[in-house]
Amino acid sequence: MSKLEGKVAIVTGGTSGMGRSIAELFASEGAAVVVSGRSEERGNEVVELICTSGGKAVFLAGDICEEAVNRRLVDLAVSEFGGLHILIPNAGELGLASITEIKPEKWHQTLATNLHAVFYLLHHGIPEILKSGGGSIVVTGSIAAYKAFPNHAAYCTSKGALIPLIRQVAVDYSPSVRANILCPGPVDTPLIWDSAKAFPDPEKAVSDVAEKTLLKRLGLPLDIAQAALFLASEESCWITGSALTIDGGIMCV
Ligand SMILES: NC(=O)c1ccc[n+]([C@@H]2O[C@H](COP(=O)([O-])OP(=O)(O)OC[C@H]3O[C@@H](n4cnc5c(N)ncnc54)[C@H](O)[C@@H]3O)[C@@H](O)[C@H]2O)c1
Repeated sequence: MSKLEGKVAIVTGGTSGMGRSIAELFASEGAAVVVSGRSEERGNEVVELICTSGGKAVFLAGDICEEAVNRRLVDLAVSEFGGLHILIPNAGELGLASITEIKPEKWHQTLATNLHAVFYLLHHGIPEILKSGGGSIVVTGSIAAYKAFPNHAAYCTSKGALIPLIRQVAVDYSPSVRANILCPGPVDTPLIWDSAKAFPDPEKAVSDVAEKTLLKRLGLPLDIAQAALFLASEESCWITGSALTIDGGIMCV
């Protein structure tokens, strides 16, 4: 039997990078997926790919920083697929700058995407998960929760705050809801290439970081999606409140 048969999942940032890989993998494992993103074109492409492969998915376009968009995602899961079991708050942005150089609006925008939008999705989603008999939450954090990077002030702060948030959810909603956080290292998605633009030679910056990992390569979106599948499925049924570093070993050095 497929690992997520009969489950309904919401994946934010689901039109690119790891979110897209998670949406496709979850659908291939039997989940009905509500894909969230900003681009209609990319969203429709993901849904079409899933549906032509025999899976179930719908797309809702919107800015995840708006509370109403999160409410609509939850309502869509229930109206379209009859319930909700899995939340994957995964959308993120970098907001590159130091504390003195970041414009206050950029600081607030980065925290809105990486932290407050996660709150909105959990705030509206958890009651529906409870009504559906329980489920699993897997947030995309970052090794930036543990380690500072030059000019990543808002990013590191927001990702750091997700670890206590997820422990709190684990405490308040167990045993019905499990909550865990993935902390990826460098993964080959559009986001890492945006981050590399801060360096004089972006190609070199990315190849240097890949070389620094113990496993000598960047992560792939599927590496993260497989970890998300494990944490969303019953295979991880005794794991809650955990942060899983998935980084090719770069945090060891
Ligand atoms: N790529 C990496 O090296 C890396 C490492 C650690 C953590 N992460 C985290 O992984 C997650 C996924 O990023 P990715 O690497 O797949 O990059 P990505 O750029 O492919 O995905 C990020 C997604 O978030 C969406 N998004 C951003 N702001 C949004 C908003 N306001 N409303 C709706 N959608 C919004 C983007 O449109 C995009 O689809 C992010 O939370 C990121 O911080 C990435």
